[in-house]
Amino acid sequence: MQILDGTATSAQIKEQIKKEVIDLKASGSKTPHLAAILVGNNPASEAYVGSKVKTCNELGFDSTLLRLDADISEKYLLDQVRRLNEDDSVDGILVQLPLPGHISPDVIINNINPEKDVDGFHPITQGKMLLGQPSFLPATPYGILLMLEHYKIDVTGMHCVIVGRSNIVGTPMSVLLSRNANPGNATVTLCHSKTRNLKEMCKSADIIIAAIGRPKYITADMVKEGAIIIDVGINRIDDPSKKSGSRLVGDVDFDAVAPHCSYITPVPKGVGPMTICGLMKNTLTAAKQPKGKYN
Ligand code: GUN
Repeated sequence: MQILDGTATSAQIKEQIKKEVIDLKASGSKTPHLAAILVGNNPASEAYVGSKVKTCNELGFDSTLLRLDADISEKYLLDQVRRLNEDDSVDGILVQLPLPGHISPDVIINNINPEKDVDGFHPITQGKMLLGQPSFLPATPYGILLMLEHYKIDVTGMHCVIVGRSNIVGTPMSVLLSRNANPGNATVTLCHSKTRNLKEMCKSADIIIAAIGRPKYITADMVKEGAIIIDVGINRIDDPSKKSGSRLVGDVDFDAVAPHCSYITPVPKGVGPMTICGLMKNTLTAAKQPKGKYN
């Protein structure tokens, strides 16, 4: 069993990005600039956005963090997005989800300029991805592809079971792994809360991607010997033995499942750092691309 180390893999990718940014700056090109919007003070969102901004600084990107109160109106948030759309210094815009219940994420995402949609959530971006046209890829699926590439894991012809059909992870992942590309060419089954025989589905998988948001949901009896396990879950559970009283676990029961796998991602330090890499690569691409098509 080999651990797929997101920290080490992302460190290598970030070194390549850093070098490219130095070259861009030396040639007089624009410094990549990511603008992040955080609405309210959800602790998990604060931590994610904090890591994204910190990584921008590490890589030599410019970053802007716009912190807004949870009770702002949808119109106010839209105005901020439109202002960033028009700001030529900004290459990528990220609105951290979830948003407070009175603000529609669809309305906000639909108003991000697709040329700056480095999260890969806009319908135009997702439509292009679906059709195999060049596009930003959603950060987590992109990070998983980068991880597979890094470890030279060829999923061609494999049965891939994805558990969870979110717009952010499960659904785009199913598209990306089934397309005629590398990584890709897998036979994908997309499972969800209404799937009847989840255990049998998982048991027949050569690769499982767990993105269901439930702690330790994938247990050892659901995993075939030698399967590859990619755990997207980040769940906080009580743990009185920790000073903080809690710890992070994935959607996979790691300790029980790991001995049966060929490869497995840990939580934390697995998919999480790779997601940030995906976002940073998209931001670098956005900075290098001509803009103005959607203004
Ligand atoms: N919330 C959970 N994952 C993500 C992500 O990748 N991007 C944004 N903007 N919000 C998230």
